[in-house]
Amino acid sequence: MAPTLFWIGLGNMGRGMCKNIVEKADVAQPVLVYNRTKQKSVDFSKQFPAEKTEIVDSIAAGVARADIIFMILAKDDIVEAVADEILKAGDVSGKLIVECSTIHPDTTVRVAKAFWDRGVEFVAAPVFGAPAMAEIGQLVGVLAGPKDSVQKASRYFKGVMAKGEIDMSDEPYEKALTLKLVGNTFILNMVEQLSEALVLAEKSGLGTQYLHELVGSMFPGPLAKACGVRMRNLEVADAHLDQVVEHQGEKGDIASIYGTVRAQAGLKYENEPEENKSKAKAQ
Ligand SMILES: NC(=O)c1ccc[n+]([C@@H]2O[C@H](COP(=O)([O-])OP(=O)(O)OC[C@H]3O[C@@H](n4cnc5c(N)ncnc54)[C@H](OP(=O)(O)O)[C@@H]3O)[C@@H](O)[C@H]2O)c1
Repeated sequence: MAPTLFWIGLGNMGRGMCKNIVEKADVAQPVLVYNRTKQKSVDFSKQFPAEKTEIVDSIAAGVARADIIFMILAKDDIVEAVADEILKAGDVSGKLIVECSTIHPDTTVRVAKAFWDRGVEFVAAPVFGAPAMAEIGQLVGVLAGPKDSVQKASRYFKGVMAKGEIDMSDEPYEKALTLKLVGNTFILNMVEQLSEALVLAEKSGLGTQYLHELVGSMFPGPLAKACGVRMRNLEVADAHLDQVVEHQGEKGDIASIYGTVRAQAGLKYENEPEENKSKAKAQ
């Protein structure tokens, strides 16, 4: 019989990930959903026929009925608090937790141990890809944990929420999170590089369209290894991220680095989409 699935966390990532599960995965219907702010669950569920999802009012209510529990939450202390709530929900042995948040490797190890001590299987499964990729099921998951548990979790990644998986079966949990953090430095460096190149293209009169074409034809390409090296790009990107937070508060994301590089070069923080420029030219 298909397992009953409980999804905790319908933020920017969780909404897209859970949508793909509801639409594509072999799970018992309904998929149970919970989010701290209930309205997000209501808005999320509205997009499906009624029998596909069910909003539960508490974590305990979802845990009681679930075989597999996915969670993707903002940060470490929240993951730990939610893990505590799951553990307090009653008999949890035999269930599987698939934890997808980006948290410190040590936190994952602590949380995994708490579950294991109560007979709960645990897979650390951080994901690569922005919310837009989550929405179309094109993430890359990194799955670490005992092989059997990884296999169970894997059914919901490639072809459902993800375009690919990095299989870390029987590896320690912390490796998945370490790879996620190392991988994030690539992404930050890439955004920093693209931001500066786009600004240069615009200010030099080249225009950004040719650069978009160049990047489109070059990627995905090889990325340099950065092991054991002081990552100066990353330091610059970090400083820019501080400015993103100053400008946009916590809503800013890494793509907004582009805005800070534009502002430093005397351009408006917000760029004008290419299509608007073409329309303006045509008029
Ligand atoms: N955004 C990305 O590009 C991206 C990519 C890969 C991985 N990630 C990782 O994925 C995770 C989620 O990211 P996101 O972009 O989806 O973040 P988000 O949109 O801010 O969503 C955060 C989620 O955590 C919940 N939450 C926050 N504080 C809480 C609390 N005190 N108690 C219970 N729930 C709480 C939120 O509930 P409410 O709705 O009630 O606030 C929401 O469901 C993070 O670990 C992030 O690093 C993000």
